[in-house]
Amino acid sequence: MSREDSLNEPGETSVFQMPIRRATPEDIPALISLERRAATAAHWTTEQYEAAFASGALPRQFLVVEEQSGVQGFIVGRAIGEEWEIENIAVAEPIRSRGLGTRLLGEFLDLARGRGARAVFLEVRESNLAARRLYEKWVFIESGRRRRYYRDPEEDAIFYRLDFA
Ligand SMILES: CC(C)(COP(=O)(O)OP(=O)(O)OC[C@H]1O[C@@H](n2cnc3c(N)ncnc32)[C@H](O)[C@@H]1OP(=O)(O)O)[C@@H](O)C(=O)NCCC(=O)NCCS
Repeated sequence: MSREDSLNEPGETSVFQMPIRRATPEDIPALISLERRAATAAHWTTEQYEAAFASGALPRQFLVVEEQSGVQGFIVGRAIGEEWEIENIAVAEPIRSRGLGTRLLGEFLDLARGRGARAVFLEVRESNLAARRLYEKWVFIESGRRRRYYRDPEEDAIFYRLDFA
């Protein structure tokens, strides 16, 4: 039995088999529902999601991972010239720590690199150790800190950066 198989209940879909696809505007309610349940995720309004999908907006890449019961995770980022910013990533709470975040981030980095990104950056709450470990797993390097960057609760932001060779 592989490590991946051993993380799943019998009959459950492995996170390694769940397809990753581009998000569409039809996914907006599912994206909102997922991030509302993730306190440490970034929270956008419906209007912000709609604007992100609108033509003319900064080029954004939205990836979702889905299984029969619906969207189980997503990542969104945007290109600012040759630098890309990861704006949000979230995985449904019941299936965290099974490798889905690692897969989503890996797909996003492949996509960014394939489209000419030279670097990817992001910021994260200092206390968000699960997210920080995920970024460090993909060899993001801490590049700075901004004191009291976040509100409710107030907290420092840690900046991470990954430079493609
Ligand atoms: C951050 C998040 C997306 C990670 O997704 P995930 O599917 O659980 O991630 P993975 O299972 O691929 O784990 C990746 C690594 O993160 C670390 N990690 C995962 N869960 C962790 C936890 N609870 N505590 C500490 N580290 C953890 C591990 O190092 C893990 O690598 P390993 O399994 O090889 O040791 C998920 O925790 C989440 O949705 N959090 C809420 C939303 C959020 O905070 N988003 C970030 C906004 S900046």
